[in-house]
Amino acid sequence: MSLAAARERLLALPTVRLGELPTPIDTAWRLRDAIGMGGKLVVKRDDALPFGFGGNKVRKLTLVAAAARADGCDTLVTCGGVQSNHCRATAAAAAALGMHCHIVANGERPAHPTGNARLVQLLGAEITYVADRTDRNPTMARVAAELQAAGRRPHVIPLGASTPLGALGLALGIGELVTQGIVPDTIVAATSSGGTQAGLIAGCALFEVPTRIVGISADDPVAEIRRVVLEICGGIEALLGLPTGALGAAERFEADAGFFGDGYGIPTPASQEAQALAARTEALFTDHWYTAKALSGLIAYGRAGRFRDGQTTMFWHTGGQVGLLA
Ligand SMILES: Cc1ncc(COP(=O)(O)O)c(C=O)c1O
Repeated sequence: MSLAAARERLLALPTVRLGELPTPIDTAWRLRDAIGMGGKLVVKRDDALPFGFGGNKVRKLTLVAAAARADGCDTLVTCGGVQSNHCRATAAAAAALGMHCHIVANGERPAHPTGNARLVQLLGAEITYVADRTDRNPTMARVAAELQAAGRRPHVIPLGASTPLGALGLALGIGELVTQGIVPDTIVAATSSGGTQAGLIAGCALFEVPTRIVGISADDPVAEIRRVVLEICGGIEALLGLPTGALGAAERFEADAGFFGDGYGIPTPASQEAQALAARTEALFTDHWYTAKALSGLIAYGRAGRFRDGQTTMFWHTGGQVGLLA
């Protein structure tokens, strides 16, 4: 199987339509000048994906929900934190496809739900709260078994929909860039459960574009992200019938864990600066879990002279703006 044949397989995978694609690519001159970086800065506006408040998770769900439907499933079961973007996107997909949704949320049931918690509730999802992250998978298994016993057909979506199939939603995003006529030298994006980064890496290999993908970690050390991203890329190779290593993921992988500071969702001085700068120069909204941290990485690289004149750098805005209202 060649990369070209695998690309055809990818393009033939069933998808459901969740909002109109492609998302816009905006040139961010004012933000670029405020950073003082070389070259051109563009933003892939997945935050503006017009479905359920958008974001990278919607791309994953176009494939994952299609597979669930093809299997005759009627309920999407997934997990995340109380303010999970992924849970909100999954509940939105279920609602729009006429399916049920059951969320396993780690954290306390909020007395007055805000942000994503509010939207998940409004979208009609059932929610089971668990105390700890480690309780999520066993609880999803239990919920799925109970649904099955009650005659329903559940489909369990792992954390972040970061499966090989889900990640391919982002690979299709690289194909989308090609049709939009923009192939950046570098893409900077937030990375956490690995699916987004794996999909972007796979997309670059499949659409044969030379773009570097730099993942800015939201929480994990580089070695852990590398392990997960390479595992997902291995799964993508198997799914598309490619030989092991054909995507060149080990060579392409690049991540930086130097920007999450004291931890997941905890603002850093640099993410606060990035958040304010993006809002005040481009009216772009970023969150301290993912996108403001990723942007703070891009800003630091830009100020260190790592993007040169004549080059195009893309900030892949993965969404998360709902978190600002939590
Ligand atoms: C807004 C946002 N950006 C980035 C990410 C990271 O994506 P991934 O989990 O695929 O690494 C997530 C989800 O975890 C997210 O919600």
